[in-house]
Amino acid sequence: MVKVSDKYFEIFISEAEIEQEVASLASRINADHQGQEVLFLVLLNGAFMFASDLLKHITLPCSVSFVKLSSYHGGTSSSGQVKELIGLNESIEGKHVIVVEDIVDTGTTMDALIPDLTERNPASVKICTLLFKPEAFKGQFAPQYTGFNIPNAFVLGYGLDYNEQGRNLNAIYQLKKES
Ligand code: PRP
Repeated sequence: MVKVSDKYFEIFISEAEIEQEVASLASRINADHQGQEVLFLVLLNGAFMFASDLLKHITLPCSVSFVKLSSYHGGTSSSGQVKELIGLNESIEGKHVIVVEDIVDTGTTMDALIPDLTERNPASVKICTLLFKPEAFKGQFAPQYTGFNIPNAFVLGYGLDYNEQGRNLNAIYQLKKES
């Protein structure tokens, strides 16, 4: 059990389980992209740890870029939330792009990101996420590569935060159930 900020959390997915699944995801990506060069687009902040471990198992010729979606203050939308992609300073035209995410939850983030990437004319765009919440998902772009399907509950660790803390934990934790 760990205390992060003001709450207690218990192990949900162990370090060993994560390691095994990350290696398995990388194997699938390697097999599916034989003969291709891949650009991994890592979405900060949450995906930094997953991406680091995943990329160690990739045997394809590849490059990696780190991007962020930030609220764009110059405009509004019906939802009141306009997200702007920052950090992508290179052309992705004709490239095979794999977005690396720690978690796809409601799908809002991918709904903002994927159309933006598609407009830049890549050869392909896929999503690789460590965690996916099928019950919470209402987006248009489901991940092609998913490590773990999880229930619609709060998790942290291995890149995911609670009040910006806990990203450094080497396993995934859930809120401690009341005893
Ligand atoms: C988290 C996570 C995903 C997003 C998933 O990012 O890293 O990007 O939420 O949720 P969604 O599917 O409902 O959009 P967050 O905005 O918390 O930023 P962070 O990565 O910096 O923690």
